[in-house]
Amino acid sequence: MTPPPATATPAPPRTPASAPALPADRHTLRRAARRVLLRNWTGAATVPSHGLYPHQWSWDSAFIAIGLRHLSPLRAQRELETLLGAQWGDGRVPHIVFNPAVPLDAYFPSPDFWRSSTAGAAAGAPRGLETSGIVQPPVHALAAWLVHRADPALSGGRGFLARVYPRLVAWHRYLTEQRDLGGGGLAAIVHPWEPGMDNSPCWDRPLARVEPTPPGAFRRADLDHGAAADRPTDLDYGRYVRLATDYRDRGYRDGTTTLRTPGPAFAVEDPGVNALLIASEHALAEIATALGTDPAPHRHRARALTSALLERLWDQGAGQFLCRDLIAGKLLPERSAAGLLPLLVPDLPRAVVRTLLDTARGTHFGLGTTVRLLPSYDLRGPAFDRHRYWRGPAWSNVNWLMERALRRHGERAAADALRTAILDAAAASGFAEYVDPYTAEGRGTRDFSWTAALALDLLAAPGPGGDDDRAGTVRDGEGER
Ligand code: SER
Repeated sequence: MTPPPATATPAPPRTPASAPALPADRHTLRRAARRVLLRNWTGAATVPSHGLYPHQWSWDSAFIAIGLRHLSPLRAQRELETLLGAQWGDGRVPHIVFNPAVPLDAYFPSPDFWRSSTAGAAAGAPRGLETSGIVQPPVHALAAWLVHRADPALSGGRGFLARVYPRLVAWHRYLTEQRDLGGGGLAAIVHPWEPGMDNSPCWDRPLARVEPTPPGAFRRADLDHGAAADRPTDLDYGRYVRLATDYRDRGYRDGTTTLRTPGPAFAVEDPGVNALLIASEHALAEIATALGTDPAPHRHRARALTSALLERLWDQGAGQFLCRDLIAGKLLPERSAAGLLPLLVPDLPRAVVRTLLDTARGTHFGLGTTVRLLPSYDLRGPAFDRHRYWRGPAWSNVNWLMERALRRHGERAAADALRTAILDAAAASGFAEYVDPYTAEGRGTRDFSWTAALALDLLAAPGPGGDDDRAGTVRDGEGER
């Protein structure tokens, strides 16, 4: 079949994608995934990619740890410990921890742009290392729990959970208190990089209010490693830089319970970020129980967040969750895959779950009907672009989360088909950063760490909790503890 043009509006109807044969050799795929993770390990953490992203990234590390636990539970623990070691005094976990051995011009914005140790001092940025000042989605408690379950004896012996638990609690407190900018009980993002979906069309309207920094004022390093057509535009970058500069110049200070003036020029409540926060709050309850601590406050907070999510971001007409623009004071109509991620939340009303599953399979996302992988953005949206980063391509982490959600809701056949599709795409694309949702053709960089890590996870044997747990290891001599 002929794929639609790169900026199709709307995408033409397609015939159901037939499931191709499984990758010829799962053992070969597993070995290749391990090689990527071993090569991208830098001694204390894993780079997402040596070229495009040569430092440690926050949500990348969480997904990487989930795969790394099958190869080396010790490294998986270290991955998270290294990230949490860069936590700020106010509880935020920065989205990048910079490796001082990497030249400044290898990545932009570099440490001398963020200046965390000085500009972030009042917010408690660490002194001995440099980080960015914004955050990424809180997948870390979930990752820590899954990492612990891969080798509870090792974890217990090292006191892994006891060490990470207070940091994870402080991280969630930062998000639920300092970032409740709308005052409605959800965490807000103040930069399009924070939800991890940098150039999602959801941000087009709120970003239009931001005066871009002129292109000549900075040099993008990403274009040295990626095709311009796969990456955000210069105009988007100008706005990213302006928002980050202003946040830095405010000392990385957030509002408290209400949106203040002068405050951020960009403030949005994103359903993906909040769904992951809720899933991670449930994981904190599991961790607390394992440590002999009272899990009730975590379950209570998870319930409160779930109510706020339903109240503030559910749109029955759209059949999914939408983003709320706090400055305009209304929901944004753009449909992102983030609006389906609340399927991860355990206590959603059954009718909401059914509607979300229908939307995932319907014309906007076409999962299992027109495409085998969940696209990052509405196939029929006017801004859909099947090659450009978060404006349409399918990403491994989002699909891994959806696979987990489908399995949770008893959608076994759909989950199995999605698992096969994720593994096929990883194998065929050389662990591409993202793929064309129609053809699974690789885009962005290759040997991307979370693509390899999550393939490894999907290849692992089910753990004691069944398929959804996958605590089983896949070690066969190549890994190490
Ligand atoms: N994803 C952003 C980048 O492309 C920043 O986190 O550099």
